[in-house]
Amino acid sequence: MKQVSVNGSRINLFDQGSGHPILLVHGFPLDFQMWQYQLEPLSETGRVICPDLPGFGNSQAWSEPIHLRGLADFLAALLDELDVEQVTFCGLSMGGYIGWQFWQHHRQRLDRLIASNTRAAADTEAVSRARRVSAQSLRKDGTSILADEMPYKLFAESSIQNRADDVNLIRQVIRNSDAEILAQAQIAMSQRPDATNWLSEIDVPTLFVAGQHDSITTPEEISSNQKKVPDSRLVLLENAGHLAPLENPEAFNAAVNNFIQ
Ligand code: MLT
Repeated sequence: MKQVSVNGSRINLFDQGSGHPILLVHGFPLDFQMWQYQLEPLSETGRVICPDLPGFGNSQAWSEPIHLRGLADFLAALLDELDVEQVTFCGLSMGGYIGWQFWQHHRQRLDRLIASNTRAAADTEAVSRARRVSAQSLRKDGTSILADEMPYKLFAESSIQNRADDVNLIRQVIRNSDAEILAQAQIAMSQRPDATNWLSEIDVPTLFVAGQHDSITTPEEISSNQKKVPDSRLVLLENAGHLAPLENPEAFNAAVNNFIQ
């Protein structure tokens, strides 16, 4: 791991390998460790850049509340800092929401896009309300409720049974997260724009990844989004829920390698 300074914040990142760069952007309420099975394998064939977003993991927070456009701008500034022109942007869920913003505002930095377990639609009013409640609870009670409950939503039932180390890792990551940052992220996601109408305009090769048992971003919703993006394909991963890269890393890495080559 190394540390770089981006816009005055100290950012923790994995940066290894050479050749075509892939930028791995974690979901909520996680950090770079959700990509643990991608880091070394993908860096054998290209450069892997995988940060903790500001305020997450071991990266310093900004002084202002986080928002998704700001996170896309932050990633562009990180690439400047690393002297990287263009990347394959690979975002999972919240990372994918940032990916749509990256495409909108930093198109010239984007070679390819991987949208893993993510949606394009904005929140419904009910989801948005639930996020506000979650933000309040995080601010009042900290991260432990989320750490206890969230793994059951993130992982497929079979992973809960068979991948105890991964489930424990994710539970630890959530427990150790900064509750105020998670609260801000909930509010930021509740305010994100609907990207559905952007899909037909996306003009870079795009890979959609879905997990067979993902109940947060279902394969049906991802498939419907994929059909709207002209140069795109969809890979459905078996034995995986919302954290497909962690739950079925062999299939995920093969799909990414196949797409990049
Ligand atoms: C994520 O994995 O990033 C979250 O499920 C995104 C969300 O809450 O919409």
